Amino acid sequence: MKTERELHALLASLTLSEKAGQMVQQGEEHLGGTGGEITGPLRHLRLEPGTTLEIGSVLGSTGAAHIRELQARHLDRSRHGIPLLFMADVIHGYRTILPVPLAQGCSFDPDLVREGARMAAAEAAAGGVQVNFSPMCDLVRDPRWGRVMETTGEDPWLNGLFAAAMTEGYQGGPGGSLRDPETLAACVKHFAAYGAAEGGRDYNTTDLSERTLRESYLPAYRRALDAGCAMVMTSFNVVDGLPATGNARLLRTILREEWGFDGVVISDWNAIGELVPHGVAETFREAARLAVLAGVDIDMMSPCYANHLAELVIAGEVPERLVDEAVLRILRLKNALGLFDDPFRQADPEREARVVFHPGHRALARKAAARSMVLLKNDGLLPFPPDGGIVAVVGPYAVERHILGGWSCLGEDADAASLPEALAERLGAHRVLAAAGCGIEGDDLDLAAVERVVSAADRVVLAVGEHPGMSGEAGSRAAIGLPGRQEALCRAVFALGKPCAVVLFNGRPLDLRSVADGAAALLEAWFPGTEGARAAADLLVGDASPRGRLTMGFPRSVGQVPIHYNHFNTGRPRTGGADDYFCSGYQDLPSDPLFPFGFGLSYTQFSYGDLRLDRPVLDPAGCLAVSVPVTNIGSRPGSELVQLYIRDLCGSVVRPVRELKGFQWVDLAPGETTEVTFAITEPMLRFHGADLRYASEPGRFLALVGSDSLHLQEKEFVLSQDRR
Ligand code: GLC
Repeated sequence: MKTERELHALLASLTLSEKAGQMVQQGEEHLGGTGGEITGPLRHLRLEPGTTLEIGSVLGSTGAAHIRELQARHLDRSRHGIPLLFMADVIHGYRTILPVPLAQGCSFDPDLVREGARMAAAEAAAGGVQVNFSPMCDLVRDPRWGRVMETTGEDPWLNGLFAAAMTEGYQGGPGGSLRDPETLAACVKHFAAYGAAEGGRDYNTTDLSERTLRESYLPAYRRALDAGCAMVMTSFNVVDGLPATGNARLLRTILREEWGFDGVVISDWNAIGELVPHGVAETFREAARLAVLAGVDIDMMSPCYANHLAELVIAGEVPERLVDEAVLRILRLKNALGLFDDPFRQADPEREARVVFHPGHRALARKAAARSMVLLKNDGLLPFPPDGGIVAVVGPYAVERHILGGWSCLGEDADAASLPEALAERLGAHRVLAAAGCGIEGDDLDLAAVERVVSAADRVVLAVGEHPGMSGEAGSRAAIGLPGRQEALCRAVFALGKPCAVVLFNGRPLDLRSVADGAAALLEAWFPGTEGARAAADLLVGDASPRGRLTMGFPRSVGQVPIHYNHFNTGRPRTGGADDYFCSGYQDLPSDPLFPFGFGLSYTQFSYGDLRLDRPVLDPAGCLAVSVPVTNIGSRPGSELVQLYIRDLCGSVVRPVRELKGFQWVDLAPGETTEVTFAITEPMLRFHGADLRYASEPGRFLALVGSDSLHLQEKEFVLSQDRR
């Protein structure tokens, strides 16, 4: 490890061009490589051919032998001998692919998510990756936006829990060290408020008040940084009139001065170059000046810093001090990763072969997938009885196996079983029939084969959904129903009269009105990763019980969006009474979602007793206990997620009708009862008041406890005046 003094000496030894090079990230083709994943448009790269600029980091390369070769080639040519940083998107697994993050969030299990991140880091680090562009914790309220797949949902506090868990998983747990060769430096993204894109159109403008930004969109990034996240990635979108990548108020005032973050800030792909089409810079030279003054340390995949930064310093338009500060942060990160002692971080093909795709990792992926799936409806069809019956799997996912989801790094579709294959492994091939009937997209609809297998079966699984490319980056959809002819297929299969379970493979909440009524059971499988089909089979046959809960509500129609659960009450809330006409709502649809935030079923049922508070008044220095007995009234063991929400009934600004503040899992045998207690404390009641000061305000509150964001019991309490 170099000392701070040695790092300063190394900085002082660099030429201005070498300093600027440390602030440039390109793909490996800049080093003469031919691999690496391209994750954005190449049209703006425009680095002069044969540029000899020595860059500081590489995007998208993987593989121990390959990265060792690139690093060795660089060090052989480098005058200063500063190793390259290798960064990649290991969003939900490296080769063993976990469920997409939106699915992982539905596990409501931060410990499991941390374990998955640790596994992903072990595989990726063995493969030579050193920095991971994860966690993505953008708050989302619009399922048209395809990147809802990459985050954990519509609640700021929950997103923060998962962002911290992923950060700890990648970086070696609380207090972990990046010198551990099984860790990755984490990079939280996309700072900030990228998920607020208007119309759900990716890369689109956001327009938020300072209060909404601070109250709803910033907290999760802050939690990741509080957990020690090493880097921040700026987002493509505008925040209050300025693109985040050129926004000094966001990057210097809030991120560095208010929050005290002193790690590396990297732009998103060509986001500096895009300051020109955004219309805040006339040229790439001006874009470079704006970004470095705003506080961006590394320019990912644009020509701006490479071609103009040194010149801007020489021209006196950018103080060299800012460049020195940025380069020092980059050198500190390389030092923290141990690269000055071992530029390869012990990545080698032997270790890679031993670690990557380990059977234990696949077992973890299967567990994570089962925990992430959400049972949305069950008329008793599931789990299938062990009666030897024939199961017909129909729909596009009766033959497709691309269930890994977007951003699946080195994951291979071929590694994943299809749903029929997974069911055949469990039930025997003779008991499983399959026919697609239609594609995911397109107008083909072949019912003959479907009718044949359905007529020969005792029960049916409709395996439908989206293509992985319909979500993720640039995956925005204006309509969010089942694509192609799948809805027609579902209706035709329902009409055949056999009991039918619908299994969904998708990367966003969908408009399920066309299937929810006809299906006897509805299982949201998301894009569940390498072991996802096997996990779905485990649930269908009852080897595992569903316990996922939605972290993003499913609207009845895209016309209701935004329809997030933690909305304001308005001056005319609907009460369901006769005088609802002049109230906030629709004439043609109810105002609530089809399936709300926090919702999910299991294979048993639970009953809640009376909610109790241990006192009516919360002293700001004390705590108040809210308790409820929960009973398993079904015939199977099951897990219930008891959820605590709080509502501030009157504040100096309007307050959400409820906010998730806690949850507890209880595992209960049939007939068993347990008492669930939550402690409410004053910090849980804080918010950005009329003056934007973050504090609680004395007054009346509701504690709401139940099984999801709509099915709750409530009790009122008072936060007393602070007597200190
Ligand atoms: C992409 C994505 C970002 C990703 C980066 C590097 O444009 O917006 O999430 O980490 O480029 O691949």
